Amino acid sequence: MNLILRLWSLNKHNHWLFKLAVAILSMCLAFRLFFYQSTRFEPNLDDPFADKTEVSKPPLPVDIRKPHIAVDIAVDIPKPTLSADGPQPEEVEAPKNEHNAGKCDLFVGDWIPNPSGPIYTNASCPLIDGHQNCMRNGRPDSGYLFWRWNPRDCELPPFDARRFIELMRNKSLALIGDSISRNHVQSLLCMLSTVEQAVEVYHDEEYKSKRWHFPSYNFTVSNIWSPFLVEAAIFEDSDGVSTAEVQLQLDKLDKNWTNLYQDLDYAIISTGKWFLKAAIYHKNDTVVGCHICPGKNFTEKGFVFAYEKALHYAMDFIATSNHKGLIFFRTSTPDHFEYGEWHNGGTCPKTRPAKEGEMQLKDLSRILRDTELAEFERGSAKAAENGVNLKLLDFTNLLVSRPDGHPGPYRHFYPFAEDKNATVQNDCLHWCLPGPIDYWNDVIMEMVVNS
Ligand SMILES: *[C@@H]1O[C@H](CO)[C@@H](O)[C@H](O)[C@H]1NC(C)=O
Ligand SMILES: *[C@@H]1O[C@H](CO)[C@@H](O)[C@H](O)[C@H]1NC(C)=O
Ligand SMILES: *[C@@H]1O[C@H](CO)[C@@H](O)[C@H](O)[C@H]1NC(C)=O
Ligand SMILES: *[C@@H]1O[C@H](CO)[C@@H](O)[C@H](O)[C@H]1NC(C)=O
Ligand SMILES: *[C@@H]1O[C@H](CO)[C@@H](O)[C@H](O)[C@H]1NC(C)=O
Ligand SMILES: *[C@@H]1O[C@H](CO)[C@@H](O)[C@H](O)[C@H]1NC(C)=O
Ligand SMILES: *[C@@H]1O[C@H](CO)[C@@H](O)[C@H](O)[C@H]1NC(C)=O
Repeated sequence: MNLILRLWSLNKHNHWLFKLAVAILSMCLAFRLFFYQSTRFEPNLDDPFADKTEVSKPPLPVDIRKPHIAVDIAVDIPKPTLSADGPQPEEVEAPKNEHNAGKCDLFVGDWIPNPSGPIYTNASCPLIDGHQNCMRNGRPDSGYLFWRWNPRDCELPPFDARRFIELMRNKSLALIGDSISRNHVQSLLCMLSTVEQAVEVYHDEEYKSKRWHFPSYNFTVSNIWSPFLVEAAIFEDSDGVSTAEVQLQLDKLDKNWTNLYQDLDYAIISTGKWFLKAAIYHKNDTVVGCHICPGKNFTEKGFVFAYEKALHYAMDFIATSNHKGLIFFRTSTPDHFEYGEWHNGGTCPKTRPAKEGEMQLKDLSRILRDTELAEFERGSAKAAENGVNLKLLDFTNLLVSRPDGHPGPYRHFYPFAEDKNATVQNDCLHWCLPGPIDYWNDVIMEMVVNS
């Protein structure tokens, strides 16, 4: 991949060489993605547990005469116990300046021991997707639960669910994107469930987009399924097996989120990995190229072409929207497959955060992030001119050092119950809940408070 990247940068000087490089890159990716696609790329889709149980279960009645119900819930949370692989006592927090929050980089820091552990568990929160419910699925180690994100040069107060939900009174927040956004919305709802349980008030036919309401606070949280942010026709069955290339309209934003956009007080927007898939690219209703489409007689453009265009349109929309709320753009998240990928036995066996420099962002993740940062920079300048409040959530690097935070084989319920040596598909892309992405909410709260 490094070779390809170097060749990439030569393209202005040597068109022929560039084309060759693109051809090689496409072949590699075609191979990779052919298998990637024929396996379950979107593992949430085939989970009968998460969606169906939620549907059949009536929402909890919320007794508004008892505003302190939250306290009862909080007290009942069974605490996970720290196993031997957890943080050691010598790993202590360095002293730092207080009162500098908001003026420092919240995205540069370290994972430090957090003996108190997560504020919710699988027992206190009913909204965790079955595939990310690592505790329920029998993940044996618990050390990964006892670290918190600690920005290097500033004080980051822990997420205060009560204060956050008070700030959100009468407001609406949407998380827009792919299955990582869904992972994130569940983390947020679970943290807020220590104050009040969210009531599901809407889901689409396929249970991909959902909306919840916190009755005592009149706070609405939406999760909008829009994996490309632009219009896309996706041909995948419920197991994530695709039968044809995605048809992407690079100059038409997905109305699933744009129609709702003006009514939101807060939005967290992201996209990423879906752009790596085989796709036919359209602009102005005309095919302009493709990515991985052998035998189709379209020009191979590479996914960066489409990613730039799609982000460009999304950023332009945001920057010129006259939106009065706070819009976050979140960078995509890294995976930690080792010894393979989704389709061919990749695993993520680590049980501790990586030490500094031990773990590097993979090439594909870096290309995605570089594209995101470039488009964000352009978009945020335009947003600033128009008085639109657009902020970056650059969580990519924060998660590079958390190879221990994925479900791995524990995306399945007790995967080794019958056969200790069973071969099971690992998930090293999504995140266990509770888990590292809970600390995104600490950062987001800090930014909301200081906005
Ligand atoms: C939560 O996980 C534990 C194992 O860590 C399990 O014993 C318990 O039954 C689970 N509870 C729920 C409600 O899933
Ligand atoms: C929320 O809305 C209600 C009804 O419109 C209003 O009485 C209340 O003051 C509002 N609260 C806040 C914090 O905006
Ligand atoms: C709830 O909040 C919305 C704004 O998000 C507001 O229009 C509505 O009046 C509020 N309802 C109540 C009962 O406070
Ligand atoms: C918009 O939402 C619907 C319903 O969830 C979904 O079927 C469709 O794929 C979404 N559009 C895009 C472009 O993702
Ligand atoms: C888009 O296509 C229409 C015809 O389908 C054409 O008239 C128009 O000029 C095209 N616009 C651009 C910007 O290429
Ligand atoms: C491929 O496309 C080019 C340009 O659009 C066209 O000239 C050529 O005939 C096409 N080849 C096939 C096999 O369809
Ligand atoms: C699992 O593998 C080990 C060695 O790798 C072997 O000794 C053991 O018998 C296997 N157990 C089962 C249940 O297949």
